Amino acid sequence: MTEARRALPQEPAAYAVEVRDLRKTYRTRKGRFQAVGGLDLKVPLGGVHGFLGPNGSGKTTTIRMLLGLIRPDSGAIRIFEQDIPTALPAVIGRIGAIVEQPKFFPAFTGRRNLELLATGIGAPARRVGEVLDEVGLTGRDKDRFRTYSLGMKQRLAIAATLLKDPDLLIFDEPTNGLDPAGIHEIRATMRGLADRGKTVLVSSHILSEVQLVADTVSIIGRGRLLAEGEVDDILAATGGQAVRVLVADPARAAAALAPAGFSVLPLPEGRMEVRRTGDQPGFDPAQITWLLAQQGLFVAELVPVRADLESVFLDLTAEEHLGATAGGHPAGPPPPGPPPVTGPAGPARAAQEDWR
Ligand SMILES: Nc1ncnc2c1ncn2[C@@H]1O[C@H](COP(=O)(O)OP(=O)(O)OP(=O)(O)O)[C@@H](O)[C@H]1O
Ligand SMILES: [Mg+2]
Repeated sequence: MTEARRALPQEPAAYAVEVRDLRKTYRTRKGRFQAVGGLDLKVPLGGVHGFLGPNGSGKTTTIRMLLGLIRPDSGAIRIFEQDIPTALPAVIGRIGAIVEQPKFFPAFTGRRNLELLATGIGAPARRVGEVLDEVGLTGRDKDRFRTYSLGMKQRLAIAATLLKDPDLLIFDEPTNGLDPAGIHEIRATMRGLADRGKTVLVSSHILSEVQLVADTVSIIGRGRLLAEGEVDDILAATGGQAVRVLVADPARAAAALAPAGFSVLPLPEGRMEVRRTGDQPGFDPAQITWLLAQQGLFVAELVPVRADLESVFLDLTAEEHLGATAGGHPAGPPPPGPPPVTGPAGPARAAQEDWR
């Protein structure tokens, strides 16, 4: 029995990365600032996972903690079922990451740069040709790095992370500054990696860029998880919650709908987008036509709006933007949810010390 049990294959790890209640407070001249405040994160094995959040929501801070570059105040991180940072040496060989812009020699060719890196990390020389192929740089590999477009530079950076043939790729905003063609190329590269069984964790503050490639996403705000799951499920959960309406007098229509708990976003050509305000329950387009008809406003067009990740994201992070722009006291009670800016009383340890 014992023998048979021992022979059974181990339960496969469900997640490449698991983060529980992760916290990180920076010390600044103005005091302590909590960048990550109790973050939970689960990145399934295989596929592309979008790690999404507005600017300053703690994406880079989290990624730096995953890679052991900075020390969390508290919380648990597991990568391939190993505790980080304790077991980082055991898994770091399986991780490729781009966090800061990697440095390449401008006067050397892309290929030469990779050859130098491969030698440095002990990767076999044949990997250089393979990774150039994987990122679609074959043909331009003999050109000097300084002649590369931004997109090509970024693809060379991805190629460099692939030299070790890692199982987990972590890319922090890899499409920053790229044009649509460059973004498309990076997306295709990430898709290709996932299709070959790799796990790709990619951060972004631009949802539409990620929606097309991500299998699952985590949406964060102010260092906390706001939503997670398969892209289609997240969209379905919020889909059908808005309609685009055409009426003769949008201003009067907005005034008629607001007291009933609808918010109205003006669109070009007299159209408007109508959705439920905040967490008001139920959404019935018939109620909208009825409310408008009461005012003598007749609907010429009513079309359901297919939610995209961008609108889900804006909804989820609305408080954050309000918080960032509100100068004085908001009318009414403060919105629920956002964690305090300063962390819980904890050890007053220097927060920026490096781990290695
Ligand atoms: N070394 C640091 N010292 C003090 N505060 C920091 C430091 N690094 C980041 N922060 C602050 O922590 C918060 C989170 O920053 P972080 O860079 O993790 O966000 P992000 O989600 O990566 O943002 P972006 O989309 O702009 O890259 C921000 O308010 C930032 O100003
Ligand atoms: Mg960042």
